[in-house]
Amino acid sequence: MATSRRDKADSYTQRAHREGYPARSVYKLEEINAAHRLIKPGDTVLDVGAAPGSWTLFTHRELIKGKGKIVSVDLNPLSLDPIPPTVISFTGDAFSKEIRAHLVEEGPYDAIISDAAPMTTGNRIVDTTRSEYLAEQVVLLASEQLRMHGNMVIKIFQGGGEQEVLRKMRTIFQKAKAFKPKASRDDSFEIFLIGLDRKA
Ligand SMILES: C[S@@+](CC[C@H](N)C(=O)[O-])C[C@H]1O[C@@H](n2cnc3c(N)ncnc32)[C@H](O)[C@@H]1O
Repeated sequence: MATSRRDKADSYTQRAHREGYPARSVYKLEEINAAHRLIKPGDTVLDVGAAPGSWTLFTHRELIKGKGKIVSVDLNPLSLDPIPPTVISFTGDAFSKEIRAHLVEEGPYDAIISDAAPMTTGNRIVDTTRSEYLAEQVVLLASEQLRMHGNMVIKIFQGGGEQEVLRKMRTIFQKAKAFKPKASRDDSFEIFLIGLDRKA
């Protein structure tokens, strides 16, 4: 019998629970990093839209391997207990003047990862427009705060101007492409944009 989308989703959720991650989204980052090697041990990483904290915890455990630094920011606090020792977290709008100043102070970064998403309204145009705004803000932050040869991944809702964001990323990175992880729900219109090797 074919496995339904929801069965697949549930198996990711159960695995996340078993492995101590607060959200199934961790397996998207696992796939993205396996395919593109964005982060290495000792890196300084900025995680935008980090709560509840699966990407941050995975980065700490599996990617920087407890060495380096992760700066995590979200409108909501991380629900990791304990907060890993490599993590510095900020609660608030990543693009507000105050929080942005903290992010700049902790930078520059070897990698910027963003799974940030707006609260969805069900109105596709509103949701994609808000997602595009978040993605553009992260690209702007990367243009200022990402080190040479640094890498980036950002989430964007498809139909939300992803080609335009990719075009901007190609001016900053040697390579930029879209990627849809298997762990992303089949009925989700999210996609991830990968930027590799920040230009000088
Ligand atoms: C899908 S969740 C991220 C899940 C996270 N990657 C994990 O693995 O636990 C999207 C997050 O984006 C955050 N977000 C949306 N807009 C934001 C903003 N302007 N500043 C900071 N965080 C934001 C939301 O609060 C939400 O927690």
